[in-house]
Amino acid sequence: MKHKNWWTDCVGYVIYPQAYMDSNNDGFGDIQGIISKLDYLRDLGINLIWLCPIFASPMEDNGYDVKDFYSIAPEFGTMDDLKALIAGCHERGIRLILDLPLNETSDEHPWFQMAIRDPESKERGYYFFRKGIRDGDNLNPPNNWMGYNGISTWTRVGDTDDFYFHLFAVKQPDLDWSNPEVRQEMAHVACFYLDMGVDGFRLDAMAHLSKDKSFSPSTLPTDSRGLVLDAPKFSNRPEVYDYLCDFRSKLSRPDACLIGEAGGGITPEQAAHVADRENGPISMVFNFDTAWNNNGYGGIEKRPEEIRTDVILLKHNFERWYNICSEHADMPLYWCDHDHPRVLSQYGSTVFRNESAKCLLTTLLFLYGTPFIYYGDEIGMSNVTYEKPEDFFSDSAQRSEIANLRAAGYDDERITHYLNRASRVNSRTPMQWDRGPNAGFSTKGSVNKVNMNYLQGVNVFDQMRDPWSILNFYQYAIWKRRDPAINRIVNEGKLEFLDHNNPDVIAYIHRGEEKLIVISNFREYDVSFDFYWQISDVILHNYDTVLLENHVFHLRPFESFLLKVRGNM
Ligand code: GLC
Ligand code: CA
Repeated sequence: MKHKNWWTDCVGYVIYPQAYMDSNNDGFGDIQGIISKLDYLRDLGINLIWLCPIFASPMEDNGYDVKDFYSIAPEFGTMDDLKALIAGCHERGIRLILDLPLNETSDEHPWFQMAIRDPESKERGYYFFRKGIRDGDNLNPPNNWMGYNGISTWTRVGDTDDFYFHLFAVKQPDLDWSNPEVRQEMAHVACFYLDMGVDGFRLDAMAHLSKDKSFSPSTLPTDSRGLVLDAPKFSNRPEVYDYLCDFRSKLSRPDACLIGEAGGGITPEQAAHVADRENGPISMVFNFDTAWNNNGYGGIEKRPEEIRTDVILLKHNFERWYNICSEHADMPLYWCDHDHPRVLSQYGSTVFRNESAKCLLTTLLFLYGTPFIYYGDEIGMSNVTYEKPEDFFSDSAQRSEIANLRAAGYDDERITHYLNRASRVNSRTPMQWDRGPNAGFSTKGSVNKVNMNYLQGVNVFDQMRDPWSILNFYQYAIWKRRDPAINRIVNEGKLEFLDHNNPDVIAYIHRGEEKLIVISNFREYDVSFDFYWQISDVILHNYDTVLLENHVFHLRPFESFLLKVRGNM
């Protein structure tokens, strides 16, 4: 039997604080706003919150650029508010994990300020400074690496010959984790919050903690600016494991849940190693392999017909991770987070909003792992229909991309059309609470404009009153997932995908003494699915009649089942 950790009984929920609930009507979501919704969250059934960063920050990257790890951004509230949030969560049986951006700081952090002021300071060694390369009168960056915001990873320090390294925005210098003092400092931050009662952390950008410190130029083909994103130079390098072991060994609570965010192409083998239940330094790894399985990443030139959920690929990715990881490591499950467009617009359908939202939930919720629901998915929130590129300007990564697209000659209409589909700002709009101004989020306004579909039933108030709403389905399904008998089958049964090559349907079974089957049609049209089991219970279903005849399910758009079955196939 797999060793049980507390998070294996959890259903998680992700809150982007800026957009969740504004308690004082300044247009900015805050901690008191979240506190006012804790009863809602308890009733929804979730028992673990991942809260995106709340530390003091100039908000260049909406809080992922921290200037003081020991204070709360005034926009979000105070340290006392955080203490009240921890207490409020725990009173309701909800655990709280904070998002900890530990790969970089803000350039306004005192460490970086000192590093710039005094090249001899110890803080200089907290970051990466390298000399530029002289070419006649020009001073070129130390190498040709491009970062995740589509710009050079190097920014020059004033008019000196020195550059500093940043994988993300210019205002986010990367920390050098090979420096033991950096690890000590970050462990100190973590202990400060663990001792306050926080239950763990999401380790932001964990994959990038180690860089190829030779900083040798990439030999991959470069773009017109001479830049290239060469992920292996700064992603999932072997030292990350050692740094995390050191970090973990310094933490004051062994039961802290640490979930590493690993982009940059982490393999399930690497994840199983770093999150190994026996001796891995962290608890779980968020990977990106089941995001964008619709060819939807980037690609302003892509035509609508090129973007379509690749059901076979999705099954393959879920299965690969399960097969390689689950024996050794716990796994989180999620469709999307604050770095992706809304899942309903990606894999679901706004035409079949109700059906597809329920289908997506059922499909994810009963896989092996700790599921995380992204705020607003429980009411079927979807992508925006903004009117101009400036509507996306709250995000620094987006600002860089828009500048690049404009420079490449795309007009604003084209760019806006593209961003309405692909921007991560889509998932950062205000939570839609009711039919009031700004969907009840704030009377003042919001950083990103509200999605007007809150007036068409995509809000909590209306859905609470409708027994067939997405919200009521979520609530019912989450409580089912937490039912100890069902949780045991999901966690201990052997998970197998059925009909791998079916291009439209995701189906899987948990085999054990009792068997659970999920069947989900991922298309906007009807499909059929062969079925030879004996159904003993229909636990979840998003249509009101079952069309099963001669061992064939007739599945309507996004029809989805969770079944308890008998039989020995
Ligand atoms: C992570 C965050 C993302 C942020 C980046 C830089 O990938 O999820 O939102 O922009 O780190 O801190
Ligand atoms: Ca506020």
